[in-house]
Amino acid sequence: MPSLAKRAMPIALAVLGAVATAPAIAAEKIEFSVDASKTGAKIDRNIFGQFAEHLGYGIYEGLWVGPDSKIPNTRGIRNDVVAALKALKVPNVRWPGGCFADEYHWRKGVGPAAERAVSLNPNWGGVIEPNTFGLHEFMDFADQIGSEAYLSVNVGSGTPREAAEWLEYMTAAQPTTLAKERAANGHPAPYKVAYLGIGNESWDCGGNMTPDYYLSQLKAYSRFVRNFNPAQQQDPHRMLRIAVGPGGDGPRWTEWTETIMKAWQGRSWSWDMEGLSLHNYTVVNWEQKHKSVGFGETEYAEILRSTLDMDRLIATHAAIMDKYDPEKKIALVVDEWGAWYAKLPGSHEGFLIQQNSQRDAILAALNLNIFARHADRVRMANIAQMINVLQAMIMTDKEKMILTPTYHVFKMYVPFQDATFVPVAFNGGFYTHGRIALPRIDAIAAKDKAGKLWLAFTNVDPNQPVEIEASLAGVTAKSAAGETLTAPKVDSVNTFEAPDTIAPKPVSGKVQGGKLALTLAPKSVTVISVE
Ligand code: AHR
Repeated sequence: MPSLAKRAMPIALAVLGAVATAPAIAAEKIEFSVDASKTGAKIDRNIFGQFAEHLGYGIYEGLWVGPDSKIPNTRGIRNDVVAALKALKVPNVRWPGGCFADEYHWRKGVGPAAERAVSLNPNWGGVIEPNTFGLHEFMDFADQIGSEAYLSVNVGSGTPREAAEWLEYMTAAQPTTLAKERAANGHPAPYKVAYLGIGNESWDCGGNMTPDYYLSQLKAYSRFVRNFNPAQQQDPHRMLRIAVGPGGDGPRWTEWTETIMKAWQGRSWSWDMEGLSLHNYTVVNWEQKHKSVGFGETEYAEILRSTLDMDRLIATHAAIMDKYDPEKKIALVVDEWGAWYAKLPGSHEGFLIQQNSQRDAILAALNLNIFARHADRVRMANIAQMINVLQAMIMTDKEKMILTPTYHVFKMYVPFQDATFVPVAFNGGFYTHGRIALPRIDAIAAKDKAGKLWLAFTNVDPNQPVEIEASLAGVTAKSAAGETLTAPKVDSVNTFEAPDTIAPKPVSGKVQGGKLALTLAPKSVTVISVE
């Protein structure tokens, strides 16, 4: 069992790019350097993707209220939620699940609303699934927020034929019976399906398959589930197929990645894939999950230590992928990530309702930074989940809506979408709490398409501010300004009564002689641009 300090070390080295041998006494001033003339991979905007499953109030009430609702809506979809999500420039939304997807039949969700089948949602509380939100409603929602569709097809209880028919229904331009049915249901033009997930957690809720069994399913689905949209027949518009990948980093998971990637390397003309998924939730103990509110510094430090495992997990699977795919053709798609806490007391069993605190803002920034540092392989990710479920962006209560600290981090990070990674160097020492030692500071830099330099800093230390002294090369800096997000306590939250307890505030740094001086508040996330 590695010591706690050792556990934190690989992350620290990756972050700092410098050698640190033991948890150091926290420095008040941290020297930092960035050279904007040195660039790395593009940070794919798809790493800011989201996940919306038929689960709890994620869809119903959260985004779908129906056209007859008093809550302002457009064709049944909440206007307040759409406006908030548009500001995030959500690149893609994964739907309809999750575990839900592997029991879903698409036909239940098309046709006149009054005639739709009413079914059950056995995965998530056993509640009635009215199917009033189906394919057309989802595509309308994605369109309203300006996002691409990432559909998960049913490999668990479905068949390749069902999935193939769904794709024909969605994408055929020629007047096939299914395309005519789509037109009769209100959408004559073929839909664009940008991403296709072939199953979900097929090693668990998706049918508890062995890697070899799943592989044979993957081959059949990849061959038969065709996208006919004429606009999607050429690169870069082709639909990307994402295979089920690992859910951890023990031997069971490395065997899964090995099996799929080895088969892919030796593939025949008749099947292919473009992505491999990875699921990783931040949970310290599944049997006794941490609380999402009313916790202290110990729980703060434990959760953040646990979330940094994402880096090791990605590195482990990326190394296997490199063996079989050195050209990095296959994207690693972290299509379920985020904090999973105990359900809020009194909330519905199976609805996965939790609060979202300043700890989650820090957690989100640390994970986004990890994805950015692995941008050559991690080209898509989906936080779980979008609204009212797990680490949500948005929480709703009837006509009320609040934005969570995680939402604010995603909004502050918008400039990093499709920006080019710029390496940084610094040694921030460690924040220590009891036996836990975490890199005190995390940071990434990137250049946007206009050539502007952006810096994102996270001060993990909940007690001490940090003075950054940054030397800026490769850029003529005159000023630096942006936003910072902090909170009175590690467990501060936004509520329906006090929705703006945690909200970004303007911040600026002093630039003089090619150096930037910037103060980072304790437990804060700061994003600035250098002008
Ligand atoms: O996000 C909640 C659930 O977590 C998903 O349905 C499943 O894929 C995962 O286990």
